[in-house]
Amino acid sequence: MKPVRIGLLGLGTVGCGTVQVLARNGDEIARRAGRGIVVVAAAVRDLARERECDLDGVRLTDDPASVVDDPDVEVVVELMGGTEPARTLVLQAIAAGKHVVTANKALIALHGNEIFARAQEKGVVVAFEAAVAGGIPIIKALREGLAGNRIDWVAGIINGTGNFILTEMRDHGRDFGDVLAEAQRRGYAEADPTFDVEGIDAAHKLCILAAIAFGIPLQFERIHVEGISGITREDVTFAGELGYRIKHLGIARRAEGGFELRVHPTLIPERRLIANVDGVMNAVLVMGDAVGPTLYYGAGAGAEATASAVVADLVDVVRALTADPENRVPHLAFQPGALSDLPILPMAEVRTSFYLRLRAHDRPGVLADITRVLGAHSISIEAILQREPDPERGEATIIILTHQVREGDMQRAIDEIEALSHLSSPVTRIRMESLAR
Ligand code: NAP
Ligand code: HSE
Repeated sequence: MKPVRIGLLGLGTVGCGTVQVLARNGDEIARRAGRGIVVVAAAVRDLARERECDLDGVRLTDDPASVVDDPDVEVVVELMGGTEPARTLVLQAIAAGKHVVTANKALIALHGNEIFARAQEKGVVVAFEAAVAGGIPIIKALREGLAGNRIDWVAGIINGTGNFILTEMRDHGRDFGDVLAEAQRRGYAEADPTFDVEGIDAAHKLCILAAIAFGIPLQFERIHVEGISGITREDVTFAGELGYRIKHLGIARRAEGGFELRVHPTLIPERRLIANVDGVMNAVLVMGDAVGPTLYYGAGAGAEATASAVVADLVDVVRALTADPENRVPHLAFQPGALSDLPILPMAEVRTSFYLRLRAHDRPGVLADITRVLGAHSISIEAILQREPDPERGEATIIILTHQVREGDMQRAIDEIEALSHLSSPVTRIRMESLAR
């Protein structure tokens, strides 16, 4: 049988990685897919730039629409990033009846509802495994492997750049900006790296995971997002002394009356496997009602790790070329007419435990006043740690770990504690998750 001809939009980190993997593993891939896969055209911005992959036989252009329109191209692989012109080009490919593979989480999170509706109408596949957690096949695991479960929650380290930065800062005391620059050199970071450090990239991925886990529409704008730029070395040290690690987690949880969708730094017990996922590695922990917890681990970014997921999607697409559209796996796991309309809960309704760090004046009655405020809001304390007061500044650092509490109650208690005039700076507050059942 003749090989399937694909066109690439983008030949950067992931695009070149994809060309390399297809070239090196071509025979194995053809044995799996039933047909070979050959790159016939590729679009880039800068035609003069040197590429790190062998482009023999590939038509190179700076006009991406010409790749989509090329009658020789059967499958379009979008690896350019950003929402425009990616959205227009993907819709153009769908309109032409071409299957699409993309690694673009921003595109899927923000425009997936529209893209999948169009794809459904045209009977084509839009595959996006590489959009979440790099090389980890988490989309396939959630959409197919766990299809017998009611998913209760998903919690993941889903940004490789952020985890790389946190690990290097903790283990080697390196400077934030210096590690970020290295992540950029290694091709991990987004074109705009604030997407990585401010949690936007993780929120794009969480949006996709939640849709697939719970059968809800993609709702990026409802996600609570906090980044890693506020994490101090001091908090990392205190957390360690109490038996916790600080990780940047995306959490999607089925709760009473709706779903929690949130991305923020989180204390997790250091005995959990996921607390020990370091560097560019990602991990996603999924709680299914039948299977219990399952953990998926692997490289969250990088050329060939991500290409692994792109090529797996290509193999699925090649197989789909011979299957009836009605018999394919639905894009978001659930049949399009069977999505849930339960709401995403506001953060004030979310229940979680907290790590609080307070810098208080060293005088009698301070701790009693603080614990009284917490008690008045029914916030129960799991542990308290007070550091030796600094006599020069007349200040003591107090760390409090709480049991679970409604976030709205915690916020009110913090407001009251800050109004007591016992503190020399605002309360630092990091959420905690046990990640047990
Ligand atoms: P990249 O290295 O910046 O590559 C982007 C490519 O797209 C470049 O070849 C660029 O051309 C081309 N391009 C961009 N805009 C274009 C335009 N308007 N017309 C023609 N070509 C255009 O990005 P990347 O890291 O490979 O990421 C690509 C996608 O994969 C993004 O959606 C990203 O979020 C996602 N992703 C990346 C990783 C990773 O580890 N890097 C992992 C998972 C998912 P030039 O080379 O000429 O500039
Ligand atoms: N910038 C992303 C990350 C790429 O660091 O996780 C993988 O999606």
